[in-house]
Amino acid sequence: MQKIYEGKAKILYQSEDPNVFLTYFKDDATAFNAQKKGQIEGKGEINCTITTALYRWLESKGVSTHLIERISPNQITVQAVEIIPIEVVVRNIAAGSLCRQTELDEGTVLPEPLVDFYLKNDALGDPLLTTERIRILNIASQEQITQITELAKKVNYLLQEFFLSCEIILVDFKLEFGLNHQGKILLADEISPDTCRLWDKKQSDPMSRILDKDRFRRDLGGVESAYGEVQKRVLSRVDSL
Ligand code: TMP
Repeated sequence: MQKIYEGKAKILYQSEDPNVFLTYFKDDATAFNAQKKGQIEGKGEINCTITTALYRWLESKGVSTHLIERISPNQITVQAVEIIPIEVVVRNIAAGSLCRQTELDEGTVLPEPLVDFYLKNDALGDPLLTTERIRILNIASQEQITQITELAKKVNYLLQEFFLSCEIILVDFKLEFGLNHQGKILLADEISPDTCRLWDKKQSDPMSRILDKDRFRRDLGGVESAYGEVQKRVLSRVDSL
């Protein structure tokens, strides 16, 4: 199959159907714009499982995603979309770059969800965008930005509720959106411990509670078991539905 795009954590292939792509989830892990590289054993399969479960659940709540079906432990077929080159980050609790760039302390509960846009461009280090910059760059229309913001807030509302029922706090996460051949905006890419900050509600210790890629970024150890724990709780939640 022809490779269309190789990212840091996934590879996208063209299928025989021009409207269908195949996504392969890798075990490769990177952080800090790929300055830190490694492997998380079993990550491809776990992230494929979690993304599939969450996208099916979001679909059941009326969110349109690119997912078609899971065809192997670490492969899904997806609708062919043109990715809008914006990383949409939704934050409920201050962490990561928000704390580095402002005076907010890690763990500060935000008065309302914050939606941040970043340019999807590794060479530039994914810089923070403003809606005016998006307009000037002409990467999305005003109407698309309004739609994406509303979708991101809806996904946040749904995922917060979902994860809380797994005793997990959804701190923040990143989404990507794409346009299908009809120009419809679909939720694309993945939702996994690579792309979310997830804190175990059962743990109060600020390091022990981390169940996401921050364990890899910050060399905290226990990366595989944290990802496995998220998978276990997500699957038991969807099985109980
Ligand atoms: P940040 O605090 O580094 O801006 O990250 C915010 C959220 O976005 C966090 O849950 C991790 C996720 N994220 C990605 O999925 N990909 C990225 O390249 C970056 C920088 C963050």
